[in-house]
Amino acid sequence: LGLSLSLCSSQTCVLNDKDGLGRVFDGIGGLSGGGATSRLLVNYAEPYRSQILDYLFKVGYDPNFGASLHILKVEIGGDAQTTDGTEPSHMHYENDENYFRGYEWWLMKEAKKRNPNITLIGLPWAFPGWVGHGKNWPYDFPDITATYVVNWILGAKQCHDLDIHYVGIWNERNYDSKYIKLLRYTLDKSGLENVRIIASDNLWEPIALALLLDPELSRAVDVIGAHYPGTTTVKEALKTQKKLWSSEDYSTFNNEVGGGCWARILNQNYVNGLMTATISWNLVASYYEELPFGRDGLMTAEEPWSGNYVVESPIWITAHTTQFAQPGWTYLETVGHLAQGGSYVALTDERGNLTVVIETMTHDHSVCVRPPLPPFNVTSQNATFQLKGSFASIKELQVWRSQFHFKTKKPSFFEKLAPLKLFDGSFTLNLAEDEVYTLTTITTGQKGSCTGSPPSARFPKAYKDNFNVRNPPFSEAPNFADQTGVFEYYINMTDPGPHVFTLRQVLTEKPVTWVSDADQTISVIGDYQWQNLTVTCDVFMESVKTGGVFIAARVDKGGQSIRSAKGVFFWVFADGTYKVTSDLTGQTVLAEGQSGTRAHGWHTLSLTVEGQYASGLLNGYPLWKNAVVLTPKNGWAAIGTHSFELAQFDNFAVVAEY
Ligand code: GAL
Ligand code: CA
Repeated sequence: LGLSLSLCSSQTCVLNDKDGLGRVFDGIGGLSGGGATSRLLVNYAEPYRSQILDYLFKVGYDPNFGASLHILKVEIGGDAQTTDGTEPSHMHYENDENYFRGYEWWLMKEAKKRNPNITLIGLPWAFPGWVGHGKNWPYDFPDITATYVVNWILGAKQCHDLDIHYVGIWNERNYDSKYIKLLRYTLDKSGLENVRIIASDNLWEPIALALLLDPELSRAVDVIGAHYPGTTTVKEALKTQKKLWSSEDYSTFNNEVGGGCWARILNQNYVNGLMTATISWNLVASYYEELPFGRDGLMTAEEPWSGNYVVESPIWITAHTTQFAQPGWTYLETVGHLAQGGSYVALTDERGNLTVVIETMTHDHSVCVRPPLPPFNVTSQNATFQLKGSFASIKELQVWRSQFHFKTKKPSFFEKLAPLKLFDGSFTLNLAEDEVYTLTTITTGQKGSCTGSPPSARFPKAYKDNFNVRNPPFSEAPNFADQTGVFEYYINMTDPGPHVFTLRQVLTEKPVTWVSDADQTISVIGDYQWQNLTVTCDVFMESVKTGGVFIAARVDKGGQSIRSAKGVFFWVFADGTYKVTSDLTGQTVLAEGQSGTRAHGWHTLSLTVEGQYASGLLNGYPLWKNAVVLTPKNGWAAIGTHSFELAQFDNFAVVAEY
């Protein structure tokens, strides 16, 4: 690959800046979205919500605090399912613009409060249907797509005073060279010359080769962002001379092996692949754990109802680098692998400061979700480091250590040890397996801590929401996790009273999708273990004749499997009928008949499931009973619509047994 990988010879690693430096470091970050990964975070009560944000973002240079992230990347909501839910677009319809939906704006502002220098990135996974003009493709009208994306960046500035530093193309999907050039042109024309383009948030190829062959494209793109690169890059990518980033990585369950994965890739993405930024999918696991990729965040905050959150090992592994090196620092050329396995990187601010990060993660304790990890050996070893060049005169280094201790299961993370005194600029470390060390001239490190988070608790078994909020802080009601469609607080100006404030499904056409959304819309809520419960909700169809809405229990799937969700679904339709089905698609019918339901009138639905039987009430009167429901045995409660249609919900209530 044309990289000169140092391997410490007979275990002396030289750290030297005399013959030049390596690449400029761009930072370590977290990704909110792709999709809805911060959904539950916003509903944490204070002080817990702020504590979580502090663990992620707070930098106080004297002293520091937690993960102190350098980068926050967010999804540009596109109304479609993008892994753990949908995120709302700033333009649901062609003539609609609203920069106050969802929670990414809020999150970016909270991040910036805690680290004014944080780098902000936006990337779309999906687009509203109108962007594709009815086709599931965003590039037929590249000018529309570019304007749509640039609007988001302008909205960030105008409505939230947020400067977006980088923007991407289409997450893990095709790019289009014409579109990328047009995006560059549209940014420039809108006074956004400083916003840089990352391409293509997929593999190294074909974008790397395309940049080599097309100078105009190359002028438009600033960074090659690859996903899950397995710490390596390719020849063409190096040849472009572009910045190389792992613009999405990790996605691993955040136990100690997850922490090990993160420690290994943070070092080796540079050592093996010269990548100067690594971004974790995801930032914080704030979505129902039974959704796809549960707990794949740097920390866990999935219980707003209890306030419980868990600062997991990846937070402290991040701190080993982030607290002691900043974007703009430069990697030394002398980085590499240790003789008995493991790796080391070194960074400098070129003003005398030096930070060395060493990891000795073994294979089985550092496996990430993807790609497959080829075998390698790491054993305990003594490693001697010799400081040369401008570092030769350093007399003392601060020492921070994490020991995973997989055998005893008593790990210790980010522990401050006694400073190391240097003689002749050299020091020797006795390294065990599965350890991370930081040796640094920076003295502001701190393992921040907040008074403990409250104990974990189940979702409340009696829960209700009347959506009566005049100025909601967020467009979405707490705990509802939209899996297809977008459900927003709504104000009914003409309602005589009881239903002025409701929740409304607002999509009227299928988005340009990232995975296969359902043909119905659905928002899930509650406890996945729920079996026996009553769900009640007032419903209001807005589509005459063709409208349909449902309430449901025991919904067993979300995310990209939402199309095949099973459960107990109680539907009413605007044509005066009802149905009970065991699937979201409505294929397996358990009961059906006349209901007299119509659009533009409120109806109260109530669904009770108890053991193997289900029954339903309409406006308080029995409509059907004794439907046999054998599978699934448990799942979330849900509301939704029969198609992409407007409909409203009010006075949602669940009473569940555990
Ligand atoms: C990525 C994707 C993310 C998420 C993740 C799960 O490929 O960009 O949105 O789905 O996989 O591992
Ligand atoms: Ca209401």
